[in-house]
Amino acid sequence: MSDAPLLKVEDLRVHFPIRGGWLGGQVGAVKAVDGIDLTIEAGETVALVGESGCGKSTAGNAILGLAPATSGRILFEGTDILTRSPAERRGIRSNMQVVFQDPVSALNPKLSVGRLIAEPLTIAGWDETAKQTRVDELLDLVGLTKAQKSRHPNEMSGGQRQRVVIARALALSPKLIVCDEPVSALDVSIRSQIINLLIRLQEELGLSYLFIAHDLSVVRHIADKVVVMYLGTIAETGPTDAVFDHPTHPYTEALLSAIPLPDPEAQRAKAALILEGDLPSPANPPAGCPFVTRCPIRIEKCASVRPGLADTGHGSRAACLVKVPDASLNAAR
Ligand SMILES: Nc1ncnc2c1ncn2[C@@H]1O[C@H](COP(=O)(O)OP(=O)(O)O)[C@@H](O)[C@H]1O
Ligand SMILES: [Mg+2]
Repeated sequence: MSDAPLLKVEDLRVHFPIRGGWLGGQVGAVKAVDGIDLTIEAGETVALVGESGCGKSTAGNAILGLAPATSGRILFEGTDILTRSPAERRGIRSNMQVVFQDPVSALNPKLSVGRLIAEPLTIAGWDETAKQTRVDELLDLVGLTKAQKSRHPNEMSGGQRQRVVIARALALSPKLIVCDEPVSALDVSIRSQIINLLIRLQEELGLSYLFIAHDLSVVRHIADKVVVMYLGTIAETGPTDAVFDHPTHPYTEALLSAIPLPDPEAQRAKAALILEGDLPSPANPPAGCPFVTRCPIRIEKCASVRPGLADTGHGSRAACLVKVPDASLNAAR
């Protein structure tokens, strides 16, 4: 199993049934995740990016066992989690933790920081002395002081609270952390502090991250690979530099053009690609390319052929019939 990647997701689908009618039977499905593949190696960060509602959290939750996978495979160190017994799944998933967007709702306001960080250790049955040693170690790791142990979440800043959330996630030494928009709720000025903390922790502990974000700007510095999602599917994926320097899918270009440039002169010169219309409903996706209804370069066959991922020539893969003609060879239907 040693050469298997830490996490490999194959053709994952998560369809939420829509019930209705007289008898409350299933009348449709929200195809929140509709056939995605991704691989995370040990020590690597893979960013999952796309606008709100495209299925990022559902994909992360399915990996964590918090949303039911409809089909596909989720292999952790080569073992398909979905085919294991509930007890085996729990054992494998103890190697995975999550950091959600909002540290306020993630932390019980009645507990002190010391208790909050010790909670996972208490549940795992650690004795008091071992727990205190570990809590002190964790505080140090995330840049909090021992004096802050007696504080309560409401006495801390958003950034400090997210440090507490990260300390809790690290408590039992996971190998993979799903970071679901971990800085989206934070003040812009402290976002880079938390990103830098995550990068430092990764270097020190050899962690892997699935880093979920709704815009590309925060992922450039942390991600090794980027997966751009659109309506439950992958529009483009590849090494971070390839995706940023040679965006191929028109949706990736639109996401990139939405990032403000630091230089105001360059920003003025840049014409932001504005996407027309809203994300279609994942309960009723377009028949062909999922992006067809908003695509500035669509051609006729995009309405009927669903493109698969194909090589862009830049080390990345994109699902676009216009930009990557081979995408039609890999067509899903
Ligand atoms: N439990 C659920 N039941 C039904 N639909 C859901 C459920 N969870 C998410 N969805 C729908 O699935 C789609 C993807 O949601 P989500 O994964 O939260 O997107 P993102 O994290 O990219 O914003 C959305 O249309 C959302 O409304
Ligand atoms: Mg989300």
